[in-house]
Amino acid sequence: MKPAEGKLGVLCVGLGAVSTTFIAGVLSLRKGLGLAGGSITQLAKIRVGRGEARKYLKVTDLVPLCSLQDIVFGAWDIFSQNAYEAALNAKVLRQEDLLQVRQELESIRPMPAAFDDDYVSRLSGQGTQIKQGDRASLIAQLRRDIQQFKQEHQLDRVVVIWAASTEKFIDYQSAIHGTLSAFEQAIAQNQTDLISPSMCYAYAALSEGVPFVMGAPNLCLDIPAMWQLAETKQVPIAGKDFKTGQTLMKTVLAPMLRTRCLGLEGWFSTNILGNRDGEVLDAPENFRTKEVSKLGVIDTILRADQQPELYDDVFHKVRINYYPPRGDNKESWDNLDIFGWMGREYGMQIKVNFLCRDSILAAPVVLDLVLCIDLAARAGLSGNQDWLSFFLKSPMHDPSRGEQPVNDLFQQYTILKNKLRELGGYEPDEELE
Ligand SMILES: NC(=O)c1ccc[n+]([C@@H]2O[C@H](COP(=O)([O-])OP(=O)(O)OC[C@H]3O[C@@H](n4cnc5c(N)ncnc54)[C@H](O)[C@@H]3O)[C@@H](O)[C@H]2O)c1
Repeated sequence: MKPAEGKLGVLCVGLGAVSTTFIAGVLSLRKGLGLAGGSITQLAKIRVGRGEARKYLKVTDLVPLCSLQDIVFGAWDIFSQNAYEAALNAKVLRQEDLLQVRQELESIRPMPAAFDDDYVSRLSGQGTQIKQGDRASLIAQLRRDIQQFKQEHQLDRVVVIWAASTEKFIDYQSAIHGTLSAFEQAIAQNQTDLISPSMCYAYAALSEGVPFVMGAPNLCLDIPAMWQLAETKQVPIAGKDFKTGQTLMKTVLAPMLRTRCLGLEGWFSTNILGNRDGEVLDAPENFRTKEVSKLGVIDTILRADQQPELYDDVFHKVRINYYPPRGDNKESWDNLDIFGWMGREYGMQIKVNFLCRDSILAAPVVLDLVLCIDLAARAGLSGNQDWLSFFLKSPMHDPSRGEQPVNDLFQQYTILKNKLRELGGYEPDEELE
């Protein structure tokens, strides 16, 4: 394992609510302000050893993580506002908190974006700094951006994380996504309907030997072509979709039902959300990408194939409603129709009403993913890092190899802890069901 020496560059694709809340939070923590609430890497303690040898270590004492002091931030966005202006615009953190780190935030100016109106219709025509050129040219420009960022700040390592808008759903199982050579040919032919802007960022990062994390539900990493590239370049990747509010609750409640052998008839989830993310997701083609990501979660936890009498024909519906007055303060409602002793005739209901703050929940997840993917790179790991599924709503997996994603939060935590133990030189000693 290479030590966490030198500076780590973190390039955020998209400088919106999530990115600015993450960056402002890290800058505040560096000054001893605020709390790293929600961050496993900063606050969790993990047991190592058993019996008399048992001790609990902070993650930072277990594995050599990059220090928050050594992070240098950069970004791309279609808007030219600096990180301070963008954070004010996002209205997540209070101005009095942002003022404490204003100077540092103002120095972060996003680079022009690789963007295609067709992929995010609600932002169509709004961008003020968008790169021009075909897909191959966009990739070349993004690669140059990464090289210059590294050089300018004298960075030892760089990580790229996507926290930009959700793109429209595309057919990601076409032949051109199936192999790296077909994918590269499609880039050369500028097949814009099959090569999304997020694929350009991922391809550029991996080509530069830089780890890439997909924080939106975009399917850009979920393709064999990208897995081949990650393996060829020996770079770790992780995705997709930050697990923050409603899905976090789902991956806690569903294991409870299964453990207690309680049946489920239906699960209806709805949200109101008024930030730009909510506006983008109001377009059906973009919501479709999010819907697929959110819907997959409970099936793999409940396993109807193993217990059909409890989980056959579960009716699962997810809605997101754009409602501007709420801004980033998302409110979600869940209704679960469940049954137990003597069957469906004695049905019961669980109602969950979560008044959350979307980006306050997402920011620590971004930090943990960034630090862990950098750790993975220094440990020589490459390809999909499924031990990071704990942080992700729709963990990437390869169905052609019979892989099933693990969605149960507690199983995901066990996998995460075991990997951190292993990377810290201890036995990965918790068993997985
Ligand atoms: N907040 C959460 O809890 C949460 C959870 C899971 C996933 N996400 C996802 O994270 C992403 C960011 O969320 P947010 O609330 O910050 O949204 P946001 O709308 O505030 O910010 C997204 C930013 O990305 C920019 N952008 C769009 N396309 C771009 C491109 N091709 N290149 C560069 N910049 C681009 C937009 O201009 C905008 O500034 C969304 O895709 C969202 O679905 C958020």
